[in-house]
Amino acid sequence: MKQLTNKPSGTWRVLCVGLMMGFTSMAYAADSSIKVRHLVNEQNIVSVQQAKKYLLLPVEDTAPESKVHIVVDNQQASPTMNIRLARESVDYYVPVDLSAYQDKAVAIDIQGLPANALCWKHIQLSDTYDMKNREKFRPVYHHTPAYGWMNDPNGMFYKDGVYHLYFQHNPYGSTWGNMTWGHSTSTDLVNWKFEGDPIVPDAWGAIFSGSCVVDKENTAGFGKDAVIAFYTSAKPTPWGDSQSQSMAYSLDNGKSFTKYAHNPILTSTERDFRDPKVFWYAPGKHWVMILAVGQEMQIFSSKDLKEWKKESSFGAKQGAHGGVWECPDLVQLPVEGSKDKKWVLICNLNPGGPFGGSAAQYFVGTFDGKKFTNESPTQTKWLDWGKDNYATVTWSNAPDNRCIALGWMSNWQYQAVLPTFQYRGSNTIARDLTLYEEEGDYYLKSAPSPEIESLRGEKVSIPSFKVSDSYEVKSLLDDNEGAYEIEMTIKNSGASKIVFSLLNDKGEKLYMYYNVPRKQFVMDRSESGIVDFSKDFPAVTVAPVADTDNIRLRLFIDKSSIEAFGEDGKYVMTNRIFPNAPYNRLQFESVRGNFTVKSLNVYKLK
Ligand code: FRU
Repeated sequence: MKQLTNKPSGTWRVLCVGLMMGFTSMAYAADSSIKVRHLVNEQNIVSVQQAKKYLLLPVEDTAPESKVHIVVDNQQASPTMNIRLARESVDYYVPVDLSAYQDKAVAIDIQGLPANALCWKHIQLSDTYDMKNREKFRPVYHHTPAYGWMNDPNGMFYKDGVYHLYFQHNPYGSTWGNMTWGHSTSTDLVNWKFEGDPIVPDAWGAIFSGSCVVDKENTAGFGKDAVIAFYTSAKPTPWGDSQSQSMAYSLDNGKSFTKYAHNPILTSTERDFRDPKVFWYAPGKHWVMILAVGQEMQIFSSKDLKEWKKESSFGAKQGAHGGVWECPDLVQLPVEGSKDKKWVLICNLNPGGPFGGSAAQYFVGTFDGKKFTNESPTQTKWLDWGKDNYATVTWSNAPDNRCIALGWMSNWQYQAVLPTFQYRGSNTIARDLTLYEEEGDYYLKSAPSPEIESLRGEKVSIPSFKVSDSYEVKSLLDDNEGAYEIEMTIKNSGASKIVFSLLNDKGEKLYMYYNVPRKQFVMDRSESGIVDFSKDFPAVTVAPVADTDNIRLRLFIDKSSIEAFGEDGKYVMTNRIFPNAPYNRLQFESVRGNFTVKSLNVYKLK
């Protein structure tokens, strides 16, 4: 869990500034329609003289947080915004929306910022906020927030041809805080449109992760087909944080939400009690909520989505317990090639992933509407073998009985220091989940969702070739902008290592290979580009592979990420990468024996 509260600044500093300023002082910001008054103890009042849509606040990512409130007609009109207001340098600006108060007396109360901070020179009013991309590492076909921090995907639902994606958003900075549900929509799972921030913090706290359902039978009484959101209210207090579950409903297809008047709907004395996933259990004609509570999942049932009854717990002696369990999901999936169906419990945990930090594990078994039973309790199953697929959950009400999953393409170990400023955080590509059986056990298959193929533009095909030592495909990726798909099949004829590396003109290299005797697919990003922002970043990740004689692999590269899907998603590896130039060559090498690249296609983006 992250720290929710802000530490008060040192009293020595308060005293010095107080003395310097004569305990109260007045100054004008560069923008003459703003009047700034500095008070004792790093308190400040910003009076807005002339209404505009936004107050633009300058942020310095590494500065301590100041507390900001909008005050209208002498009343606090906003929740507390914790903002890293610039002290020595400006990294970017964040917008505080004042459009609701155009004809009112508006002031901004800013606490914990000294009078000599750079912020006062740069604070300004504006009718526009520039969201044009300024980051070279921003992916082009993965969802990212236009600005600010993003972690978990939340509340995904599909309705009337539109995929809705909410996300843990900080609209006031590119580090974690002020958790709010941002909202984006798409009709094809590839192109996303930012729709604003419909669920914002309130008296019960910040808005943590959760889910949405479409209430087709009006069981909650908010209206037929109301979209109902369930989220964790996370409240910081001087005595510690508390977490409870709340709900909100939307009668305009998820664009705006009204919070239920009697929130929170579920409370607990547990410290970690969060991330509700709600779904309809048809055989029992009731709703189910699965919640992450410490290192277990708890299952509740309800008829009306408001009153919940605890039914069972799952987790003791099951799977990996290297960290806290978060963001659960519980879905029923068909087993490929049979008429069977099984239930899959998705359990994200942090830390404790196979390569350090965050990761997603899953359990396959049965569910009777009240209790989940894991059918292979001795094995830990990982959803993804890279370091950067966390908080994976699935879409509610997806079309054609599909189960479509999306993850946050990052890891709590280093997300706060990734080399971007305007925004931080992106999602994986969407993946369709199914189950397959192997040697009497069941495993998840995560295939790239078919919609992803709509991205394919010009196709470059290389005729089959044999690699007995090394072979470089030089011009294959010329003129690419660091976003493309590679699809290949390889037939091994005795090599013990099948190597293929992506190279760029800066001497950087993303090293990948199959270790044949060990039946592994390996990716080493330690020389892939910028890696020194965290000691946990330059990692080697390893996936088990059933067949290393006939290899089928799809690689999705997008500016700062690579997602490898082997055998239609039987093994998946998702890793972030920050190459200083696009990779434009593909180098094959064989060790002891040779192999044949039977097909090699590169798809540029449309
Ligand atoms: C997972 C998580 C959730 C929580 C959210 C807060 O990444 O810790 O458990 O709801 O992030 O942003």
